[in-house]
Amino acid sequence: MHKVIFDTDPGIDDAMALLFLHRHPDIDLIGITTVFGNASVETTTRNALFLKREWGIKAPVAKGLDKTFNPDRPHVGWPTFIHGDDGLGNIDVPETIDLPVDPRPAHRFIIDTVRANPGEVTLIAVGRMTNLALALREDPDFAPLVREVVIMGGAFDVNGNITPAAEANIHGDPEAADVVMTAPWPVTVVGLDVTTKTVMTKAMLADIAARGGAPAQLLSDISQFYITFYEQHVPDGMVVHDSCACAYVVAPDLFKVRSGVIRVVCGGLADGQTIQKPDSRLFPPSPWDNLPSQKACIDIDAAKTLKLIGDTL
Ligand code: BDR
Ligand code: CA
Repeated sequence: MHKVIFDTDPGIDDAMALLFLHRHPDIDLIGITTVFGNASVETTTRNALFLKREWGIKAPVAKGLDKTFNPDRPHVGWPTFIHGDDGLGNIDVPETIDLPVDPRPAHRFIIDTVRANPGEVTLIAVGRMTNLALALREDPDFAPLVREVVIMGGAFDVNGNITPAAEANIHGDPEAADVVMTAPWPVTVVGLDVTTKTVMTKAMLADIAARGGAPAQLLSDISQFYITFYEQHVPDGMVVHDSCACAYVVAPDLFKVRSGVIRVVCGGLADGQTIQKPDSRLFPPSPWDNLPSQKACIDIDAAKTLKLIGDTL
């Protein structure tokens, strides 16, 4: 069983990943922490509460702060053309949801929950890495107490999706991502190298809606806006970025990984680029020395991953 804190910016593909975590028998979802990204943190928190209510999820929701790790970074705006004005595909989410939010900021919730369950908690982060980086800054000794960190973000051997160099979750807070990649905890990065190969067709989604009851029907309704966006990029369906990170936790054998130090470019033309230094290569002394080796997913069995996601939903 995996005790999971899900750090998320719902977000349409985030919603699918949340339902996956809620329904997978090997996952014990013990917390949801929100971050800005696909929408403001006010909106992503409201959306997390909405999905919690609609799907009967028990885990507490803790809200993140509304600033990047480096507060001087200019704000880049929200991708309403991908996730809708409400962040959930314009399905008329109520403005407020009458459920409590944990009184602690997200990063404090993460620290407290990990310290209460040493060695047991997996952090799955599928938005900006802001909350994880803030937790590391507030409590530098807590990283070794985390079982595993699995991230949806980055692009290693493929182009980014915000710039040719950078993927959205990393580009939105590169300083935070660099802190997370270089911390003394085991990180696996599930980036565009594998997520863009994992396209759920409209027929698969319709089958999930037919088999998965009201929660899956709601997910299908939310996803239509996202499919319309993705139709410009893939022939039939949508890329299920965030669910890939969740699938990795329960089925790592479906992924091919590469080890090496990972760093994030902060500023300039390649702002937000993720770069991995393979273990076997020698370089002169550099900012890559004496840092933990982390894993980057570079290939995936997309058909089996999609089946796992579909059967779980
Ligand atoms: C990532 O960016 C967001 O739009 C998605 O939710 C996903 O986490 C993909 O680049
Ligand atoms: Ca996301």
